[in-house]
Amino acid sequence: MPEIIQAFSQIGRGFSAYLAPPGPDVIRFTVGQPDFDTPDAVVQSAVDALRRGETAYSRAQGSISLCEAVTSHLNTLNIKSDPEDVVVAPGCKQALLYALMTAITPGDEVLLLAPAWPSYDGMIRVFGGVPVHVPVLRPSYHPDFEALEASVTERTKAIMLNSPNNPTGAVYTPQEIQQIAAFAEKHDLWIFDDMIYSTLVYADHDYASPINYPGGEMRTITIGGWSKGWAMTGWRMGWITGPKDFMEAVKTCQASAATHIPTFLMPAGEVALQLEKETKDMADSFAMRRIVMHNGLNSLPGVSAPEPEGAFYILADVSGTGMNDIEFADRALAEARVQLIPGSLMQGGEGLVRVSYATSLENIEEGISRLQNWLTQIS
Ligand SMILES: Cc1ncc(COP(=O)(O)O)c(C=O)c1O
Repeated sequence: MPEIIQAFSQIGRGFSAYLAPPGPDVIRFTVGQPDFDTPDAVVQSAVDALRRGETAYSRAQGSISLCEAVTSHLNTLNIKSDPEDVVVAPGCKQALLYALMTAITPGDEVLLLAPAWPSYDGMIRVFGGVPVHVPVLRPSYHPDFEALEASVTERTKAIMLNSPNNPTGAVYTPQEIQQIAAFAEKHDLWIFDDMIYSTLVYADHDYASPINYPGGEMRTITIGGWSKGWAMTGWRMGWITGPKDFMEAVKTCQASAATHIPTFLMPAGEVALQLEKETKDMADSFAMRRIVMHNGLNSLPGVSAPEPEGAFYILADVSGTGMNDIEFADRALAEARVQLIPGSLMQGGEGLVRVSYATSLENIEEGISRLQNWLTQIS
């Protein structure tokens, strides 16, 4: 039989083993998607486009007005882009793949701030690249610049940035982003800025893009999408923009791989980016749940978590319970009926569990109370 590429034997399935839908009475703190419906106006726009018959092939990078809407949205985050250099892809994930396709050849190393969202590791390996997991500082989960410096080799080609961060909930400060830009310039690296959670920030500083700091402009690839901030995970829509030459290659990737996103979703993407109240209401709701979840976790014996600054995740240290993270997550599911993600599914996540607060306040309170009772009983 012909051979399958070797790299696939090393690619994991991320969190999937712990994301399986459990029995009915289980509280799930695992799901990394908003528990809101996509806003009505967005749904209506897609329905109208279908009814108008917008079902044929279309502009590969996305309609001109959709690309302009992405540029306007990025502008609100202080990111300058040219709509001609925007590609709308089937999800942020696919956009990340395009970035890697464009920049990584076998043996190239990509720095990840560990623990990192596990999909990065697999994506890098698909191209024969080498993910280099550089631990972040504890307990803040912010970048450790000494460790980053020590991890650079002749093969280092890029650094993956994700702030607000999945799984840690950290939002890097503008000073740290400035340092990342300087670090990337010093070692001539691409910066892949996965800013998919950029509208979900609760820290006293906003999301900051490396594009605005010396060295950042010509090496930052900005990648994001509609999934998290607009409750549109199933729509599979993401964006990517960067320097012109880079984006010409990305356009070729899209033309070869996907042609474009579904034509009738393009107007809906535009409508979404113009919404204000709906997205703010969702972000406000996450902000409130964040406090309840954070206080709840810190009230559990043997559990501690730094203040989460963005996205909708908390990475809690459970080592004080005497259990490792796998045992904690497995027993929490079996004995407390609460589903969590064990951190050791990610390099550098040992002793930690990832908790998502993208669930109702009622669920958060019930889940914390179950964990409280369980831990009290077994201690
Ligand atoms: C950091 C990060 N980037 C990208 C994605 C995927 O985004 P999309 O649904 O647009 O492919 C996720 C989803 O969990 C994520 O956590």
